[in-house]
Amino acid sequence: MSLRQFIASRSLVRTLSALKNNIVYSWTEASRMLGLDEDLYEHPLHRELDQPVRVLLIGAGHRGSIYADYAIKSPREMKIVGVADPNPRRLERIAEMHAVPMAHCFHDAGAALSVPKFADAVIVATPDKQHTIPALRALEKGYDLLLEKPIAPTEAECRQILAAAQASGCIVGVCHVLRYTPYFRELKALLDSGIIGQIVSVQHLEPIEHTHMTHSYVRGNWRNSTTATPIILAKSCHDTDIIRWLVGSHADEVHCFGNLKWFKEANAPAGSTERCTDGCAVERDCPYSALQIYWRDRKRLYVFDLPPDESQWSDLILQGLKTTDYGRCVYRMDNDQPDHLTVNILFGNGVTAGFSMEAFVSYEGRRTRIMGSMGDIVGNMESFTLTTFKDGKRRSWSLKTDAHGGGDHRMVKDWVQAVGQRNPALLSSPIEESVESHLIAFAAEKSRLQRTIEKVRLDPAPADEAMAAD
Ligand SMILES: NC(=O)c1ccc[n+]([C@@H]2O[C@H](COP(=O)([O-])OP(=O)(O)OC[C@H]3O[C@@H](n4cnc5c(N)ncnc54)[C@H](O)[C@@H]3O)[C@@H](O)[C@H]2O)c1
Repeated sequence: MSLRQFIASRSLVRTLSALKNNIVYSWTEASRMLGLDEDLYEHPLHRELDQPVRVLLIGAGHRGSIYADYAIKSPREMKIVGVADPNPRRLERIAEMHAVPMAHCFHDAGAALSVPKFADAVIVATPDKQHTIPALRALEKGYDLLLEKPIAPTEAECRQILAAAQASGCIVGVCHVLRYTPYFRELKALLDSGIIGQIVSVQHLEPIEHTHMTHSYVRGNWRNSTTATPIILAKSCHDTDIIRWLVGSHADEVHCFGNLKWFKEANAPAGSTERCTDGCAVERDCPYSALQIYWRDRKRLYVFDLPPDESQWSDLILQGLKTTDYGRCVYRMDNDQPDHLTVNILFGNGVTAGFSMEAFVSYEGRRTRIMGSMGDIVGNMESFTLTTFKDGKRRSWSLKTDAHGGGDHRMVKDWVQAVGQRNPALLSSPIEESVESHLIAFAAEKSRLQRTIEKVRLDPAPADEAMAAD
């Protein structure tokens, strides 16, 4: 029996559980304790590839860089052979790190996809509204694809990409990184084992954390639902996806309430100014002060493209706060994204789910409660506790991990393995399911704006088909 088979049989985990007062450790933690280096959450069909998958990276920003880092970590599995980004600093950085030849460095996705195919696969990590064209072009040229979420900003474009993916026979992964976290994987395996009986209902909370909210959805690129995409799609399609995956059924109906309550001009304190650097009288007391977040606390600095020499940072951050949106007053932006919303979902198997997205919280990390006919589960992205009703027995799983709950690079690995082995079954998140999770988000936004209960349908209903044929 190999080490992985031994672990997969859970005998070691059970032993640890017995030893440690019913706290079941994740393999990451257990392996650290034992000084081993193997990932229980790797797909058992992963194997050494004959050659690395050659990747063209389109969009070398925050997410693109994280995915490209996988090539540094695992050079035998992935190699970046081309890059496209209009930002010269980002283009150069990736080109240098991965020794990309000049001929394969492009200032635009269109240029990169108009030359003859020179890689095996493409990663599209451009802004939300710039996914559709590069995704369709890449599929047309026969590239396998890793596509950032949201797949596309409209339902029609999502369906168009789905149809193109199915017609092309290419391997298409969508970056629903939560599915790849040990936390949600363990949760899913337990639910599928039937240990809490039939799932009856789910409560799921996405606490955005107040400075993350201001960074991305008040000052940042996703602040406006028209120039970017509605927050339920931009931020919470991960949640509609994970809830749907855990419940294991298609969604039937969706309802949503939500609005922008706080980050608007009417709430600007007396003495506040256009920018936090303009001598704002309340800057020191404001929890959303850009000077505090970026300059004094030095958080979320990746947006400033700072050089490696940290001695220059103070001046460059200040300059960034005086010239970019990240220095503007949170009460004087052109933002329209809700800062709180609640969604109710009725699934085809009768399960109901309540989902809340909240900006005004001091913490991050999804909170999930799953109610089953024989037991329940309460979790917070770092650990969860399962209680079985019959015997009242409680067991807790400790699953602390790294970025995005450890999902980012596990997702890239599954995709690279799927491409390298020509086996789409290795992907945890097939595009059909991703599209459906997006349809839940589109339905929720429509419900929020129109005060309706919306139906969700991946396949057009017979009546819709008849209308389309007219
Ligand atoms: N999966 C996740 O958990 C997750 C998390 C955050 C963001 N995202 C999504 O990832 C995508 C990228 O987000 P980000 O945070 O990396 O943004 P970013 O702004 O840091 O990066 C986007 C990059 O795309 C480049 N770009 C713009 N137009 C281009 C074009 N025509 N051709 C090539 N490159 C172009 C920009 O210059 C920028 O460098 C977005 O769709 C976002 O919603 C996903």
